[in-house]
Amino acid sequence: MSDWQKSNWRNKPRVQMPDYLDQEALNAVEQQLSKYPPLVFAGEARSLKDKLAAASRGEAFLLQGGDCAESFEQFSADGIRDTFKVMLQMAMVLTYGAKVPVVKVGRMAGQFAKPRSAPTEVKDGVELPSYRGDIINELDFTSEARVPNPQKMLQAYTQAAATLNLLRAFSTGGYADVHQVHSWTLGFTEQENSARYRAMAERISDTLDFMTAAGIGSENAALRTVDFYTSHEALLLEYEEALTRIDSTSGKWLAGSGHMVWIGDRTRQPDGAHVEYCSGILNPIGLKCGPTTTADDLKVLMKKLNPENEAGRLTLIARFGAGSVGDHLPRLIKAVKEEGANVVWSCDAMHGNTIKSASGYKTRPFDSVLREVREFFAIHQAEGTIPGGVHFEMTGQDVTECTGGVRDVTDEDLSDRYHTACDPRLNASQSLELAFLVAEELVAMRSETSQSRGVA
Ligand code: PEP
Ligand code: CO
Repeated sequence: MSDWQKSNWRNKPRVQMPDYLDQEALNAVEQQLSKYPPLVFAGEARSLKDKLAAASRGEAFLLQGGDCAESFEQFSADGIRDTFKVMLQMAMVLTYGAKVPVVKVGRMAGQFAKPRSAPTEVKDGVELPSYRGDIINELDFTSEARVPNPQKMLQAYTQAAATLNLLRAFSTGGYADVHQVHSWTLGFTEQENSARYRAMAERISDTLDFMTAAGIGSENAALRTVDFYTSHEALLLEYEEALTRIDSTSGKWLAGSGHMVWIGDRTRQPDGAHVEYCSGILNPIGLKCGPTTTADDLKVLMKKLNPENEAGRLTLIARFGAGSVGDHLPRLIKAVKEEGANVVWSCDAMHGNTIKSASGYKTRPFDSVLREVREFFAIHQAEGTIPGGVHFEMTGQDVTECTGGVRDVTDEDLSDRYHTACDPRLNASQSLELAFLVAEELVAMRSETSQSRGVA
């Protein structure tokens, strides 16, 4: 779009964004940020787009995961390392199941701003503005903490830069070696109640042993390094605009804040500010699709966000909730087919499955998360379309935020280690277990497809 400008969103209706009280302070922060280097480079966003194009054809599979909201207080090297580590384990298990490369995209290094279901929060009769993520205000329940402060954008930028720096070091510095990643996974299958995952892990061991015997060992760069990408919801548009830069190679605009950005379920108004901003950047874009997404809106959004129908540009992230996928996914798949649109279909199995536990905590049952993924796969199988990926809120830490899994986190356990700044995340063990179960589904789906094609 030749007349697109990075500030055009300012002329469109905006929702879920803070009203900063001090305009001058806001302007100063935007000025400052616009002088800082971008966090990512256009060539990286393009290579991610190529990989997502492969996912749209069933030649790759997307794994997107990380915190619901990154936090300033919980920022640590160990936290980054542990989430990276469990994502690599999941990716390896999923590679085994899908038999295609897994594209790894963290909800990391920029996932700070949160849309909220209500503008205010009431506690013991006191009403305060909602917490909107550490890039905007603070979680503490005091009126000072809830005032949006533009300075926080600078801290978010610094944290994102440091996070990405560590991720890049882990990706290429030997930490991501497949043999090491697999040895961690074997460790998981030796734990109590995990025996059912051992058979698949042993088949992966056999494959690695065979490769070593055939002379394809860790000296091979493909086995020692990974491509790991970052993503976040492009919600706080002042931050996004300040980091939007021209790519000198193509003359196009790049969102320099992360490799991929997505539009949330609450900010996908076709004529709204968020869609306007995302329409003009070259990065791969995600679009959350929820129960209220209409086929007509989806058609308009696909045209606006991907006018050239470029494969890998648009990932539709379905988040309907277990038991409801069948009510919504088929009508949206139909809309995509009618438009002949190239999309990656991914399943966010978290946001439609949030419940309030008896103990009062927001939680998500492991079984609902798994069930939503299964329903998503079954519908794509029935429609002859490609389930291209999965999207989870997860952490490498041993938290107790979602119930269930092999270690059976119960409602009563939730209070033990409930650390999320926003939505409940799968812990390391739940995340890896889910990857095994999703891999089993992928194996079953491939054998069903080849049977129905009459292939032995
Ligand atoms: C999220 O991904 O954290 C989120 C808020 O999702 P959604 O927009 O789908 O509700
Ligand atoms: Co969330």
